[in-house]
Amino acid sequence: MPDDLVTVTIDGIAVQVPKGTPLIEAAKRAGILVPHYCYHPSLPAPAVCRMCLVEVEKAPKLLPACVTTVADGQVVHVHSEAAEQAREGVLEFLLINHPLDCPICDQAGECELQDYVFQEGRSGSRYDDYPKRFNPVEDFGPDILYVPNRCILCTRCVRFMDDVAKTPVLNVSERGDRATIGIFPETTLDHPWSGNVVDLCPVGSLVSKDFLHKARAWELDKTASICPGCTQGCNVTIETPEHNVVRLRPRPNMEVNRHFICDEGRMNYRWMNRGDRVEAPRVKDGARYQAVDWDSASRARAVSQSTA
Ligand code: SF4
Ligand code: SF4
Ligand code: FES
Repeated sequence: MPDDLVTVTIDGIAVQVPKGTPLIEAAKRAGILVPHYCYHPSLPAPAVCRMCLVEVEKAPKLLPACVTTVADGQVVHVHSEAAEQAREGVLEFLLINHPLDCPICDQAGECELQDYVFQEGRSGSRYDDYPKRFNPVEDFGPDILYVPNRCILCTRCVRFMDDVAKTPVLNVSERGDRATIGIFPETTLDHPWSGNVVDLCPVGSLVSKDFLHKARAWELDKTASICPGCTQGCNVTIETPEHNVVRLRPRPNMEVNRHFICDEGRMNYRWMNRGDRVEAPRVKDGARYQAVDWDSASRARAVSQSTA
């Protein structure tokens, strides 16, 4: 085994990964998803959500998999009773103030809170007798609304603006159970990459005005493609309910666009829905052009070239 590799066993599966790999990424190699909120592979890891707690043999307490790096011979349990109980507790805290918005929430169907509560959460609430915190929706920028009641304060949006966009306009305002994401006075979320915060938000707290209520996540067909907007060639996914393009989203490619795209590329999809686009090659037949299949078009082209 090369010196720069270590072997760890995660839920009984042994994997070899480079030294310094976070446990959460090593688990991915073993085909195991460690639940997480604040961690994102293209952002610095602050370990604030505690959703990724796992049990590591010989460690005195549960460890956050997003900032714990692998060690040779480590034995990790993602689905031990202690780890699952800790994550259930995190989810219970998150739901104390979370609204029952799923039927009207744009994120439903692709929401990491829905998914993890379904997988590991309690089946009922112990806080029914207490009123939930309420804050009004805020307009953060030309395409972005902030719904504070759904926010789980993972801070991915803040870190994206600080560390990737290098335009720190977002912050965590207030403290404790009153904390929300704030926007600095006289600023707006109009950076040319700001749409990425909507993708990064694991819940329906940052939503795109352009996509709002256009489609439910489970109605979308997804097609891998490349953004035609410029020579960077960012990898995208085209999302279409019934052949109508409603959203472009970044598709991860660490060598080209990491997990992001610019807003210009993101919004450059309406022309795809035009009814007058040419859908098949056309060959001139007398005074008219006829739609034909590609083989016929190639043959017609070869004939016209040979007679030119
Ligand atoms: S953020 Fe998720 S859990 Fe909350 S209302 Fe929206 S879909 Fe439901
Ligand atoms: S708005 Fe979304 S991304 Fe930002 S802190 Fe809240 S949950 Fe996280
Ligand atoms: S994902 Fe590890 S603490 Fe948030």
